[in-house]
Parts: sequence; structure tokens; C-alpha cells
Amino acid sequence: MKKLEGKVAVVTGGNSGIGFSIAKMFSDHGAKVVIFGRDAESLKDADIALAGESMFIKGDACSQEDLETLFRKTRNHFGTIDIVVANAGGAIMQPFLEVTEEDFIYQSDVNFKGVFFTLQKAAPCMNDSGAAIIVSSSANCRAVPGMSVYGSAKAAVRALARTLTQELAPRKIRVNVLTPDPVMTAAYSRTGLSEEEIGDFQALQASQIPLKRIGQPDEIAAAALFLASSDSSFVAGAELVTDGGMTQI
Ligand SMILES: NC(=O)c1ccc[n+]([C@@H]2O[C@H](COP(=O)([O-])OP(=O)(O)OC[C@H]3O[C@@H](n4cnc5c(N)ncnc54)[C@H](OP(=O)(O)O)[C@@H]3O)[C@@H](O)[C@H]2O)c1
Repeated sequence: MKKLEGKVAVVTGGNSGIGFSIAKMFSDHGAKVVIFGRDAESLKDADIALAGESMFIKGDACSQEDLETLFRKTRNHFGTIDIVVANAGGAIMQPFLEVTEEDFIYQSDVNFKGVFFTLQKAAPCMNDSGAAIIVSSSANCRAVPGMSVYGSAKAAVRALARTLTQELAPRKIRVNVLTPDPVMTAAYSRTGLSEEEIGDFQALQASQIPLKRIGQPDEIAAAALFLASSDSSFVAGAELVTDGGMTQI
């Protein structure tokens, strides 16, 4: 059964990794999907790979103007917005003592400010009874050396979801957090680690997970489908952790 028939969904970072799998899962379930990111080539490729009606919009999640354009164009094209997934983000691994102000701003901008304003710009354009999903990380609640800025920003968006759940409740917009970790995507190659360091980091992560493996993007998309669909109609302000049990033991 298709669970998102007739719905319109916006997925930031829908051109890669977890965001792309979510966009594909939503599209396979009948949603019209808009994907948003900075890289024109991967946006085009991802858009072509989506089954149903879709559109891509190039922009930066840290730019107020680009976010306004995203939601205005989506609204103009599809007439409505039911689901927003604030997924764009990523980590750079850096020891705490080496983080410069520039590094701090870069990582907190995309992982916190970008998510905050994605939802602030989206909310007025969304239908009542819509669903908003914020993609966080298990670094929001556990120590990951090298991820001081990233983990703090991911904790901030977890807190944000609680407040937005209250503020958007009169419109019955449900805000939930999806917390994947670790998932096999291009995110690893964007951390600044070498291939060898990535291999060691993944082996360490797998060893800390009860299921003893790293997750796949489709497994996270299945959880996003639950949060976006009426299957989760009584779930609000919650955090759905998809980490093979890493933070639950
Ligand atoms: N993979 C993991 O193990 C893992 C674990 C925990 C949490 N997460 C979270 O899951 C989300 C998706 O990550 P992923 O693993 O799928 O990584 P990914 O494959 O590197 O995808 C990241 C996506 O975010 C987009 N993005 C980054 N900065 C952006 C910006 N300023 N404006 C617009 N788009 C931007 C990228 O598109 P462009 O490059 O085109 O801008 C890309 O589509 C992130 O929030 C990440 O923190 C991932």
C-alpha cells in the first residue's frame, strides 16, 4: 500500500545518502518530492532516479533567501507542502582544541541554523496536519571525540523539535527527530579523514553496535516513512533512533 499518495514532500540534502533514500522511499510511496542541495549534478541525477513527479531546487540550507525560494517555488509548483525533512548536514572531524571560529560557524550553520530556518520558512507554507522531520545524530547524546561542534548542533536540533512540537501543535503539524547512526554514505568522505582513518572509524563504530554492522540509507528511509505517514499519527516531539542499538545499551 502506498502511504504518501497525494502528499508533497521537501527533502533537504535529497541529492545524496540518507536524504536521497528518503526522497526515493517517499516517491515510491506516491509523494511528489522536491529535493534541495548545493550540487547541481547530483541534484539532476537524483531527480531522474525518482519514480514519480519530482523537482529539484539548487540552494544552500544556510541561506535565508535560498530557503525562501525553496518553499515559494515548491508551493507555486505543487500548490501545497505536507512533509518537510530537514536532513542537510554533515560532520567534520576535528579535535576540540583545533576548532577555529570559522570551523565552528561552518558546522553549526548547516547542522543547527540551517535546520532552524528550514522549518521556520517551511511552516507558514505547510498544510495543517503536516509532518516535519529533523535528522539528528547519536552524537547528540553520546561522546564522539572529534565531533564537539557537530554533536552540540545535533543536540540543539533535538531540543528544537520539542519546542516546535508545542508551537506548531495548534496546526497539528507533528515535529519528530530521526536519529540515524552510523550509516554508509558519502558523509564519511566529507569528514576530512583519510581512507584508512575512515576504515578504522567504521570498524570502531561497528564494534560498538549490538547488531555489529553499519546501517544502510534504506533502513533510515523506512523510519522516515513511518514519521511522515499517518502510521505515526500519535507520535510528536519524539526521537526515533535508528542506530542498531548503539545508544540504547
Ligand atoms: N551517515 C551517517 O552515519 C550519519 C549519522 C548520523 C547523522 N547523519 C546525518 O544524516 C544527514 C544526511 O547525511 P548523509 O550521511 O546522507 O551524508 P551525505 O551523503 O554527505 O549527504 C549530505 C547531504 O546534505 C546536503 N548538504 C550539506 N550541506 C548543505 C547545505 N549547506 N545546503 C544544502 N544542502 C547541504 C548535501 O548536498 P550538497 O553537497 O549538494 O549541498 C547532501 O545532499 C546529515 O544531517 C547527517 O548529519 C548521518
